[in-house]
Amino acid sequence: MSRTHTPSQSVFITGASSGLGRGLALELGRKSYRLALTARRLDALEELAREIRNQSGNENVIVRKLDVTDSQAVWDVFHECAHALGGIDIVVVNAGIASRAAARTRTFHQAEQVFQVNVLGAVATIEAAMSYFTERGHGHIVGISSVAGLRGLPRSAPYSASKAALAVYLESLQAELGRSDIDVTILYPGFIDTAMNRDLPRRPFVISLERGSRILARKIERRVRSSTVPTIPWGILSRVFKLLPTRFLSGLR
Ligand SMILES: NC(=O)c1ccc[n+]([C@@H]2O[C@H](COP(=O)([O-])OP(=O)(O)OC[C@H]3O[C@@H](n4cnc5c(N)ncnc54)[C@H](OP(=O)(O)O)[C@@H]3O)[C@@H](O)[C@H]2O)c1
Repeated sequence: MSRTHTPSQSVFITGASSGLGRGLALELGRKSYRLALTARRLDALEELAREIRNQSGNENVIVRKLDVTDSQAVWDVFHECAHALGGIDIVVVNAGIASRAAARTRTFHQAEQVFQVNVLGAVATIEAAMSYFTERGHGHIVGISSVAGLRGLPRSAPYSASKAALAVYLESLQAELGRSDIDVTILYPGFIDTAMNRDLPRRPFVISLERGSRILARKIERRVRSSTVPTIPWGILSRVFKLLPTRFLSGLR
């Protein structure tokens, strides 16, 4: 796609208090984007905003407490941030949780929590952004799915299904919006070193948070339609992954 973002634009990020959201905020902050950073932990967001100001002198950073499972709050905070920043150009739907448990021990509540945050929280964010971008006539929605959403992985039924749901929701938007001025990007990270996966026994092809954040920022700036992160090896592996019979996936537990 030929259009790219310019650093004077503003970005709304959910789940910016740690991990990929935080890394992306630091990366985009360095490039002078105006930032609206949201999550439930306000103290972590305030510390992040200070770090961005100290690191790059970027004063255009606002932080807001937001639990994405509260759909009314998502709508209110999104519009309040749009007003405070003088507009929002890019929305990164990033807030997410993981839950790993064997099917025999998993509870409905664990699955429900994952769907509340990763699916309904994401949909609330996407719909607030869609309504706002439709009125403005342009915008860019970025969803952070996962390579785990490409197949149902063992011990990860809620997480894999939630990430597949987010990707397909955005794919449907892409199909519907066609070549309009509202772009949709679907990103499928492999393992990037964050609190979400640090306790896993194996993290194949794991990359540092700094590298992962740089790649995410680059792909967002280029407005790619969809991509794994990093492209290699996950771009190739994801194609193989989709063809594997489920009995081969059981080795990934
Ligand atoms: N790291 C990876 O390898 C990897 C791979 C594929 C996909 N992803 C996806 O990347 C996204 C970020 O994950 P991460 O690895 O950076 O994990 P992380 O470090 O645990 O960060 C998760 C973020 O989501 C926020 N969050 C959780 N529940 C929330 C809620 N109810 N409302 C608002 N914010 C909430 C957390 O902030 P608060 O607790 O302050 O609210 C935190 O900022 C997730 O969607 C994850 O599925 C990560």
